[in-house]
Amino acid sequence: MSFRGVTIWLTGLPSAGKTTLANLLGNKMRERGITQLEILDGDVIRMSLCKDLGFSQEDRMTNIRRIAFVSQLLTCHGVIVIVAAISPYRESRDHARRAIKDFVEVFVKCPIHVLVERDVKGLYKKALAGNLPYFTGVSDPYEEPLHPEILVETDKETPEASAAKILGVLEKLGYLPDASSTSHGKRKSTS
Ligand code: ADX
Repeated sequence: MSFRGVTIWLTGLPSAGKTTLANLLGNKMRERGITQLEILDGDVIRMSLCKDLGFSQEDRMTNIRRIAFVSQLLTCHGVIVIVAAISPYRESRDHARRAIKDFVEVFVKCPIHVLVERDVKGLYKKALAGNLPYFTGVSDPYEEPLHPEILVETDKETPEASAAKILGVLEKLGYLPDASSTSHGKRKSTS
């Protein structure tokens, strides 16, 4: 028996909380017995599959096209894919949605002033000082999703609450069994 895969696409500004949320979601799913799971994180992908790419518009679009390609392959084989990538362009995200079909867009939102305060990687400081050109949110655009399936606001809610929200929507859409159900890890059948 095969199960329906899905790509959960986390988009948002740098340091908005995409990686934290992706890892937490992954752990929650594993706790539910889901093993067909893959996390595709922009930071990691850029060290391997997209090592050759920079941060021009063209390179970012190529980056997202490659991530979408891998996601589509995995998704159609029943895997739950969690993507964590800035993916700043609507056009790229819409391309991913069309290609993958079973696609749930999550806007990981956080106001820029909070991100500048957080600045976990020190990149906002660098960009604001003019030492990092084309930095998303400061010197490069970010096109907010217009109709994401899910909005999480990381300045207002805990990662646990955001993860619970996403899991709830996945249950509603039939990609995950209800948490209270006894069939741990059993997912919607395609047959
Ligand atoms: S995307 O725009 O192509 O989707 P992606 O999510 O893969 O970006 O990679 C973003 C990561 O690259 C950030 O987490 C950050 O650590 C690093 N980075 C380095 N330079 C930049 C930049 N100019 N803009 C955004 N992120 C950058």
